[in-house]
Amino acid sequence: MRRIGVLTSSGDAPGMNAAIRAVVRKAVYHGVEVMGIRRGFAGLIEADIQPVGLGSAGEIIHRGGTVLRTARSEEFKTREGRAKAGQNVERFELQGLAVIGGGGSFQGALALHREYGLPVVGIPATIDNDVSGTDYCIGFDTAVNSVLDAINKIRDTATSHERTFVIEVMGRDTGFIALSAGLAGGAESILIPEEPFSIQDVCDKLRRGQRRGKQHSIIVVAEGAASGPEIGQVVKEHSGLDTKVALLGHVQRGGAPTAFDRILASRLGAHAVQLLMSGSTSRMVGMVDGQIVDSDLEQATAGKKPIDRDLYRLAAVLSI
Ligand code: F6P
Repeated sequence: MRRIGVLTSSGDAPGMNAAIRAVVRKAVYHGVEVMGIRRGFAGLIEADIQPVGLGSAGEIIHRGGTVLRTARSEEFKTREGRAKAGQNVERFELQGLAVIGGGGSFQGALALHREYGLPVVGIPATIDNDVSGTDYCIGFDTAVNSVLDAINKIRDTATSHERTFVIEVMGRDTGFIALSAGLAGGAESILIPEEPFSIQDVCDKLRRGQRRGKQHSIIVVAEGAASGPEIGQVVKEHSGLDTKVALLGHVQRGGAPTAFDRILASRLGAHAVQLLMSGSTSRMVGMVDGQIVDSDLEQATAGKKPIDRDLYRLAAVLSI
């Protein structure tokens, strides 16, 4: 193998740079050239492609975002768009491609593999953590810690003013961020799309807390479960409590990656290159039970990753 490409696609996630660094350095170590494709599949269509060497992969392991930039390309979803991408695969003599992103990016990678025979390996990176075949996606741990930091700060003011706070967090149509950050932050209620909930129950819990002398509460809402402002309004009306809403938004996507995310990205990036060098054609790397594994890329894009129900039940028990 002489040359591979690397790109980041979909929403950026902290640790993507550490994954780029690992792909580049592992490849260079084995004498394989790496071409960096900017702005994901859009850059592959537009030939926004440049060699990346040891130098350009330096000083990035600690930085959030992605130095390769990222995009969600509508054109790549069309056969014509992919044909242009396929031409550039030939023009730049790419013999393999490492795709760092989420499930949508992997569908794109699979299409490229099927239509143009390009060997592809997916490296799961999304704060949503919603990719099957891996316990953790790069960026999730950092996002959870960012949310936790916000919950801690909001708890200070919630306690001081004896207020109820509804905190809306990201996750698209999943509740991984909400569940982990909610449990770690001691939230009184965690609302996620994977589990049914009733506002009545949420308010009953608030009142039970009040009767025990608890004057402040935190409710974490996953964006896919409900809108934070709507939940805030209903809770206020039902409970009569002084209720405020905080939307954490894109701060959850930024920031320096945690040690966990840097190590995960380093291991997954290196394994992806190993797979490409050994002739694998459409795999996804991941971490399961602490071990680095790889699985069929198609399976990773099919089906919804289940939430950890034991963790959800535990959060409910501990916030009684
Ligand atoms: O997939 C990552 C994510 O941050 C989701 O949690 C969120 O729903 C979405 O991207 C937001 O996308 P955008 O940055 O395009 O608004």
